[in-house]
Amino acid sequence: METVTGIAEVRARVQAWRQEGARIAFVPTMGNLHAGHISLIELARRHGDRFVASIFVNPMQFGPNEDFAHYPRTPARDSEMLTAAGCDLMFMPDVAQMYGQGATPPTRVEVPEISATLCGGFRPGHFEGVATVVAKLFNIVQPDVAVFGEKDFQQLAVIRRMTADLCFPTTIIGAPTVRETDGLAMSSRNQYLTTAERAIAPQIHAALLAATRAIASGVSDYARLEREGAAQLKAHGFHLDYFAVRRRIDLSVPSPADRELVVLVAARLGKARLIDNLQVERG
Ligand code: PAJ
Repeated sequence: METVTGIAEVRARVQAWRQEGARIAFVPTMGNLHAGHISLIELARRHGDRFVASIFVNPMQFGPNEDFAHYPRTPARDSEMLTAAGCDLMFMPDVAQMYGQGATPPTRVEVPEISATLCGGFRPGHFEGVATVVAKLFNIVQPDVAVFGEKDFQQLAVIRRMTADLCFPTTIIGAPTVRETDGLAMSSRNQYLTTAERAIAPQIHAALLAATRAIASGVSDYARLEREGAAQLKAHGFHLDYFAVRRRIDLSVPSPADRELVVLVAARLGKARLIDNLQVERG
C-alpha cells in the first residue's frame, strides 16, 4: 500500500489505474480504524479492482465545543490495518491540503431537510461539514463505488441524497454495523468511556432491540415506544439527544402505512456521544 498526502498524487495514481481499466472503490474515514472500518474495505473489495481509503479528521464537521482536538489519531496503526486489508492507496491530507491556508470559508455543500432532523438538530452544521468534505474527496478520488457504514444511518442518507443531487458518477453502498460481542456498535468514540460506562453502553443496543421487536410484532404506537426507549436509557444514566422511530427512506416521521422503518438513538454517556440504529419492517 502506498501512502500519499497530496491531491495531485492521488489523481496520478487513480488515472493510471483507470487507464488499465480498473474500477476504483473508495472508503472515506477519520482514521483510528477498528473492525467496523475494515468491514467497509472488505465490502469495497467485492465492488472494485483498486481500493483507496482516506484518513482525514475533518474540522468542518465538528462543532466548536466538540472533540476535534481530542479525536484519537493513530496513523501508524491505521496504515498497518489498511495494508493487511488489501488497500492500495491511503490518502492522508492535512487541513491545508483540503481547505487551503486562508481565512476564507470554503464553498459549502448543504443537503437540506434530511440534514436538519435528528443529529442535525443537535449538531448544527455537522452534515454540511460531512457533505462538503465527501464531495471534495469524491472529486479528488473520482471513485466508481464508495462504501459508508449504516452505523451512521443519517450520514449515509445525506451522502446518497448529495450524490444523486450533484450527479456524482459514484455508486454508494451501505455496509452493516459491526458490533462488539455484547452488542455495542464499534466506534472510535467508545474509547472515551470509563470501565463503568463501557459496561452500561450495550443498553443502547438492548433498547433498540426491544423497540424493533415490538414494531416487528405489530406495535404501531411509535410515540410510546420512543418514550419507553428514552426512559429505559435515562434510567441507566444516559443523557438522551433522541430515541426516534423514522421512515428509512428519508428519516421523516412515519405514517401508519409506512413499513420500512429505522429506530435511531443518540445518547451521551460521560464524555462520549454514542449513536446507533436498527432497521425494522413493521409487522
Ligand atoms: P468515521 O467515523 O471514521 O467512519 C468512517 C466510516 O466507517 C463511515 O462510513 C462509518 O459509518 C463507518 N463505520 C464506523 N463505525 C462502524 C461500525 N461499527 N460498523 C460499520 N461501519 C462503521 O463517518 C466518518 O468517519 C466521517 O463523517 C466521514 C464520512 C469520513 C467524513 O468525514
